[in-house]
Amino acid sequence: MSTLLNTAIDAARKAGSLLKEGLTSDFSVSSKSRFHDLVTEYDLRSERSIMEHIRLQFPDHEILTEESGHHHSEGEITWIIDPLDGTVNFAHGIPFFCISIAAMKDNEILCGVIYSPMTDELFTTELGKGAWCNGMALKVTNKTVLKESFLVTGFPYSVADNPGHCIDHFSHIVSLGIPIRRLGSAALDLAYVAAGRFDGFWEIALQPWDMAAGTLLVREAGGTVIDYAGKNLNVLQSSSIIAGNPFLVKDIQIELQKVDLLYQSGDFHE
Ligand code: IPD
Ligand code: CA
Ligand code: CA
Repeated sequence: MSTLLNTAIDAARKAGSLLKEGLTSDFSVSSKSRFHDLVTEYDLRSERSIMEHIRLQFPDHEILTEESGHHHSEGEITWIIDPLDGTVNFAHGIPFFCISIAAMKDNEILCGVIYSPMTDELFTTELGKGAWCNGMALKVTNKTVLKESFLVTGFPYSVADNPGHCIDHFSHIVSLGIPIRRLGSAALDLAYVAAGRFDGFWEIALQPWDMAAGTLLVREAGGTVIDYAGKNLNVLQSSSIIAGNPFLVKDIQIELQKVDLLYQSGDFHE
């Protein structure tokens, strides 16, 4: 195992203990861009703990985190960190959230860790070497019929503005009779796709820290990750994502595009 992955694992476990303890404490919560876009005291504590750990090992590496942004440096490696993915769940005492940490070099994700402290599931991956959960190798599903699939999605905090027709995408897929979950943590959604628990995932307006580790996990588990335009996802350049087993990703994209085409032709009716 590489030193990068080892460092990410130790940092994620340490932050995970913090979050697990914090969940039942009386923590402070405030709003960011909108009322429901929250940050808790524990997002910040987790971020500080992860950054301290990484800096101890690699003082010259660059860091991109959700809460404090871009910490520039001359190093070749950039760490991409979501210290608490699933903040709204956490803030309401719902034990479904994780820490997501990835290391990137020249636009390529080298390794990633997603840790769910409440279930003690540690998802790990390294470029070209595979994906694991608590040491067990992961594989995406092999379902080939979209209508028989089980999918997961999420909504941005700006959902009321229906960015990219996300509400209509959702209702269209539901209308096909496909069971869909909205669990509230994009990174864990991706880890669950890698683990074969879901056949696919789509969401718009995500950030690099939501997707970096999960994208490599899905790919290393045999899955495909693209953006809504059908391009191989680059987490620094795209914010829309479709991930899943290689048979279904294109089918999901086609269904989302059907809604977009209706809009373009002016034929979309709620
Ligand atoms: C959010 C979660 C959620 C997704 C949102 C994200 P946060 O991240 O991943 O599942 O639907 O788009 O912003 O705010 O909990 O780190
Ligand atoms: Ca997030
Ligand atoms: Ca977060």
